[in-house]
Amino acid sequence: MLEVESLCYKYPDGHEALRGVNLRVNEGEKIALVGANGSGKSTLLLHIAGAFDVQEGRITFRGREGADVLRSHVGLTFQNADDELLMPSVIEDVSFSLIASGMSAHSAHEQAQNILASLGISHLASRPPHKLSGGEKRLVTFAGVLASNPEVLALDEPTAGLDPKARRRVINFLRETDKAVILATHDLDMAIDVCERAVILREGEIYAEGLLPELFTDKNILEACGLELPLRCQ
Ligand SMILES: Nc1ncnc2c1ncn2[C@@H]1O[C@H](COP(=O)(O)OP(=O)(O)O)[C@@H](O)[C@H]1O
Ligand SMILES: [Mg+2]
Repeated sequence: MLEVESLCYKYPDGHEALRGVNLRVNEGEKIALVGANGSGKSTLLLHIAGAFDVQEGRITFRGREGADVLRSHVGLTFQNADDELLMPSVIEDVSFSLIASGMSAHSAHEQAQNILASLGISHLASRPPHKLSGGEKRLVTFAGVLASNPEVLALDEPTAGLDPKARRRVINFLRETDKAVILATHDLDMAIDVCERAVILREGEIYAEGLLPELFTDKNILEACGLELPLRCQ
């Protein structure tokens, strides 16, 4: 469904963040993207979600190319939740994309309430997003992305800063959804819980890929990429 071919990306300062990445995501497939800080996970997700123009290589969604195609099918949550919470209240933030796509404010709010409830955060509806805790903000951005009903979820460290209960709710949601999920995370235990397959990035290249949990039992591979064995594989 979504295919990344020989993707290379150089930041304006000359830093090569991606060096020939190939990745194929099938319908409904859940893939973990792991790797040490700076390995290129966020840069790759930003490409997949159409936030960056491709410099070299190709990304297609059902055979079609272009950042606009990706933007309309892939929902991205950023690593930093502050980058995307712009409205005066949580409910307005989550219903924003629904209203923008032509839904009445009433229906949009109703649908947004349902999404908030599914994530266990109905009580945040009237709060101003910028006053929430880091973990609450993260859940709200997640709700905002779900509202636009994308076919692919590109999630950048979605459980960073969440308490165990909220983390579990996100994991349960991701296990149950039939959307395709590309999950950049340092939480290898969550990756095993949610994903069938993982790709390990190192210095902008795919160092290893394979099925979970098997791939994460390989201490040599993890060590070479600056990662540690997940708790359940120790
Ligand atoms: N705006 C930027 N300008 C220059 N280099 C950047 C920029 N953003 C990220 N990088 C560099 O690109 C590499 C990959 O970064 P990133 O994709 O954020 O990695 P990860 O998400 O795996 O931590 C890192 O070496 C990082 O320092
Ligand atoms: Mg990152």
